[in-house]
Amino acid sequence: MNDAANWDRCWLRFNPISDRDRLAEYRQWGQEIAVADPADDVLQTAAAELMDGLEAMLGVRPRRSAASTGKGGIRLGIRGQMDDRPIEPAAQAGSGDGYVIRSMPAADEHGLIVSGQSAKGALYAVYHLLRLMQCGEDLTGLMLSEAPSNELRMLNQWDNMDGSIERGYAGRSIFYRNNEFVPDMSRIRDYARLLASVGINAIAINNVNVHAVESLLITEKLLPDVVRVADIFRRYGISTFLSVNFASPIQLGGLFSADPLDESVRRFWKEKVEDIYRAIPDFGGFLVKADSEGRPGPFTYGRDHADGANMLADALAPYGGLVIWRCFVYNCQQDWRDRTTDRARAAYDHFTPLDGKFRDNVLLQIKNGPMDFQVREPVSPLFGAMPATNQMLELQITQEYTGQQRHLCYLVPQWKEVLDFDTHARGAGSSVADVVSGRLFGNRRGGIAAVSNIGDATNWTGHVLAQANLYGFGRLAWNPRLTAEEIANEWIGQTFGADPDVMRAVRNMLLESWNIYEKYTAPLGVGWMVNPDHHYGPNVDGYEYSRWGTYHFADRHGIGVDRTVRTGTRYTAQYYAPNAELYENLESCPDELLLFFHHVPYTYRLKTGKTVIQHIYDTRFEGVLQAVELLNAWSSLEHKLDADRFEQVRDRLREQVKHAREWRDQVNTYFYRKSGIADEHNRGIYA
Ligand code: GCU
Repeated sequence: MNDAANWDRCWLRFNPISDRDRLAEYRQWGQEIAVADPADDVLQTAAAELMDGLEAMLGVRPRRSAASTGKGGIRLGIRGQMDDRPIEPAAQAGSGDGYVIRSMPAADEHGLIVSGQSAKGALYAVYHLLRLMQCGEDLTGLMLSEAPSNELRMLNQWDNMDGSIERGYAGRSIFYRNNEFVPDMSRIRDYARLLASVGINAIAINNVNVHAVESLLITEKLLPDVVRVADIFRRYGISTFLSVNFASPIQLGGLFSADPLDESVRRFWKEKVEDIYRAIPDFGGFLVKADSEGRPGPFTYGRDHADGANMLADALAPYGGLVIWRCFVYNCQQDWRDRTTDRARAAYDHFTPLDGKFRDNVLLQIKNGPMDFQVREPVSPLFGAMPATNQMLELQITQEYTGQQRHLCYLVPQWKEVLDFDTHARGAGSSVADVVSGRLFGNRRGGIAAVSNIGDATNWTGHVLAQANLYGFGRLAWNPRLTAEEIANEWIGQTFGADPDVMRAVRNMLLESWNIYEKYTAPLGVGWMVNPDHHYGPNVDGYEYSRWGTYHFADRHGIGVDRTVRTGTRYTAQYYAPNAELYENLESCPDELLLFFHHVPYTYRLKTGKTVIQHIYDTRFEGVLQAVELLNAWSSLEHKLDADRFEQVRDRLREQVKHAREWRDQVNTYFYRKSGIADEHNRGIYA
């Protein structure tokens, strides 16, 4: 543990257990830890975490032994290598990351068995046990068996080597400074701990936009530093990936082309991959943004994305490496006058014709929605639309369009909606969770990745409560069936303790926050309306006449994008039935997505009975009132929380209230001026 470090411990606080009965109960087990196979590095980490965590919470350092010396104690190890009796294999044996935790009855050995399918499984089991103790759970009669739903549970760092973070809202990079790796990597180690504690097992350590310096990460100049980082992550069961520049053969190899079918290009990548695996034998693979927003890719050479991805996949395959190929491919040089091009269609149109053409070690990484991490979007129709291709989900923990960690926005409920969405790809019951876990189409590979929200801010995430999003992402990637509320409870219990008032207030704040944010920002699924470039704050027409394909088409009669088959861009046809019809028809289209799919008059009545314009006014006024309630709810906890975190959050909530008002007034005024329709309740709108 990093006592000397001056950054926040987030949910790994391990405060002393204050409940005396619980303390007595836990102490019975926490006397001794017997660790089978101490040679394994990850198991060593597990043992050390368990020892430290128990000591901090129970006030006594457990004895450590190679084999159990008698009654009591915790036996930690890998199934089959422990002196335990046979236990049920974890529910889905697939990835080998599962584990069992079982308490033995007093009449018997009276101890705890903590047994992983692998060393990583044992590490996850340790964190689970520590979590139960931090939350004060009763461990008698415990018998739990866990296995992750997803093989890959991954973070994408959008960190640049100059120390900046693309779309980062929590300070500078913890990895890089001034185009070098940071000399002291202790913060990276603490990050690894946080990630492992929620089951993350993979990380891409540089931005998907790979600039000149970062292109060198795969060369002898910087690879030794990547090795150091990979060594840290490995001890926590996390494999390291790099984002690569598709044009590396030109930029690094002195070739004239990066054509994926060119032999010299293929040789370049084979040699590079060989170098990497010589240095990092368990290297994860490459993450690639190609032919997207100005990044190079196979299109330059008249090749398709399968050609591009497969070339890298062939180089990586002998070592078990993966290519994670992003589907965020669209025309970002659009003319706003052109009503026939619809950005929302792009990923599906580009990739579905390639189904079945990708190698087995390629995974397509698809953003949750067809646009770009807006507060509300439909689920991307690409999920489930490529049955013969590995698919991964990409989420954004960093709050680019959801308040930039200055507004509270707990994103787990949004992610739950995405994961639970029924694609109908194989008939009813074909959830996104089952598509991306690989289960829906037999035994495909899969996973969930997300863009991280951390930086070198003392509290890691800028907004203390935004830590819940990092935590929640890991927990959901492990088990998409957990509810947003369960995750909130776990996080609050570990982060702030079990005081029922704190629990209740913070839980309500978290669970309401996405909804509140949506109420004062872009209405009814239409998105955008933010200031260009930095994307913070209201600007209704900020993206209306731009080249990015991001329009709302508001005029004096109405607003929204017609994406229907009948009269619009035909985007709705990308969904399987019955979703296609659901969105196509105005009557059945859900209110919250109405303006994403349809252009309607301001006087159109929603299912709530309100007109669109009145809905816009009402939700904006409500949103601000609720932002004030967030501040009040937090303020009521002043004497229950440490002053430092209390004040940090209160400052952010105050800013949120102010800024929500700005959103309300700009959006309301804009639509009043466009429509000329007054608010039924005559509230303050600036005509
Ligand atoms: C968004 C974001 C960019 C990022 C891109 C991506 O458009 O604003 O900064 O590079 O997504 O996902 O590649």
